[in-house]
Amino acid sequence: MTTHIGLIGGGNITETHARAARAIPGAEISAIHGTNAEKIARLCREHGGTPYQDFDAFLRHRPMELVIIGSPSGLHAAQGIAAARHGLHVLTEKPIEISIARSDALIEAAKQSKVQLGVIFQDRRKPHICQLKKWIDQGLLGKILFVDARVKWYRPPEYYAGSRWRGTLALDGGGALINQGVHTVDLLLWLLGDVVRVQARTATQLHKIEAEDTAAAILEFASGALGVFHATTAAYPGYPRRVEIAGTEGTVILEHDRIIAANLRNAAAAIESAPLDENLSSSTATVSDFRGHQSVLEDFLQAIQQNRAPACDGIEGRRSLALIEAIYRAAKTPDRVATV
Ligand SMILES: NC(=O)c1ccc[n+]([C@@H]2O[C@H](COP(=O)([O-])OP(=O)(O)OC[C@H]3O[C@@H](n4cnc5c(N)ncnc54)[C@H](O)[C@@H]3O)[C@@H](O)[C@H]2O)c1
Repeated sequence: MTTHIGLIGGGNITETHARAARAIPGAEISAIHGTNAEKIARLCREHGGTPYQDFDAFLRHRPMELVIIGSPSGLHAAQGIAAARHGLHVLTEKPIEISIARSDALIEAAKQSKVQLGVIFQDRRKPHICQLKKWIDQGLLGKILFVDARVKWYRPPEYYAGSRWRGTLALDGGGALINQGVHTVDLLLWLLGDVVRVQARTATQLHKIEAEDTAAAILEFASGALGVFHATTAAYPGYPRRVEIAGTEGTVILEHDRIIAANLRNAAAAIESAPLDENLSSSTATVSDFRGHQSVLEDFLQAIQQNRAPACDGIEGRRSLALIEAIYRAAKTPDRVATV
């Protein structure tokens, strides 16, 4: 059975969506919507589908059972709600939106229309990260005491200057934290559970943007664990994301999406090999290795077939945004503290 997919956006990440979809047997791109006529025409030539600049006409295109949203982040809810009302399942890029109020409206619309809603956090599908989650859930790290997560990435000035939405409060909702840091915020919540309180500072240190290019936060987890988190797009030349998790039974260090150290008291838990990931998110926005996206899409297609929620549904997808909103709130208060 063929599943017909509509793509929304037509920029950098839509290319990844198209390649991921084409790698899945039985998946077909049937339409592409975006505001840039040249870009969507090229994508359709290369990957198939009918180009639409008119969003309403795109939503009426059939056959089409689902859409993948890769437009600027502040458009995800409005476009997702419209798609859901047309009976289309919705898989949206991270962040789910730039405000919790709008995310909740999207979650509610999907529920009312009885369509599946998924959020793309491809790190949750990476083999080493799944291995680490298993170890934590099995108690191999013991009680988690402390996490130290650093996203020292670099984006050149053109990354912002050449974009009408990146780094803007209206469409990106912020800067380095909500756009780049969100992957790692999601990971921390997925691996370690909810955060209840944050202390934070944000700053615009290098780039000429209205949002922050640097954010630093202290996290208090519901479990009692503490964390420090740092995200930036100003750290030339950009380094792999690093997460160090210390528990009573040992420490694991993740670099980008690979476990590079696992010093556990229970040494029998040896590191399993996983395919090398060639993505270089530290210095570029291009997701050249689409396997993570492919895996998210495969799960989403199965979710539709099996009439179940996808692994990362709207409720899961909104967790990182709720914490990010709290970090922004904390950074604006005189005592720099906020509850989540
Ligand atoms: N999962 C990941 O690793 C990952 C990586 C990059 C981007 N993203 C997310 O994907 C989204 C897009 O990022 P990008 O890097 O592709 O940006 P981009 O600027 O390259 O592409 C966005 C596209 O949306 C189009 N657009 C603008 N207004 C529109 C509208 N009203 N309706 C439809 N399309 C419109 C633009 O023409 C542009 O081609 C963002 O939400 C971003 O956070 C996720």
